[in-house]
Amino acid sequence: LAKIEVKLDDIPEGKSVTFKWRGKPLFVKHRTDAEIDIENNVDVSSLRDPETDNARCENPKWLVVVGVCTHLGCVPIADAGDYGGYYCPCHGSHYDGSGRIRKGPAPLNLEVPTYSFPEDKVLLVG
Ligand code: FES
Repeated sequence: LAKIEVKLDDIPEGKSVTFKWRGKPLFVKHRTDAEIDIENNVDVSSLRDPETDNARCENPKWLVVVGVCTHLGCVPIADAGDYGGYYCPCHGSHYDGSGRIRKGPAPLNLEVPTYSFPEDKVLLVG
């Protein structure tokens, strides 16, 4: 299936839910205001793969990333690691609440797929 539609009402605030999209895990996280603030206050120049949170999230309430570690392709664990995001147990990569790599061997941030919000409370990925 090329595209996936996600009903956002099913994802409570503070939760990251995993879907399957094009054979890969897709993480959709409903971020709290506190989580959004943390990501906006990160010093981008200190990042290995410098991207602002704004550039990665069309709507700050929703983080949408492909759940494949950019090191060697393991699936990271949600709501884990030292930076409030995702943790890859294979070799210890920590991603923040914007899916950006913060610690460990992974070279790049988690990939943001093409997506849109065709209507209120609906996410369309692909
Ligand atoms: Fe994730 Fe190596 S595959 S840290």
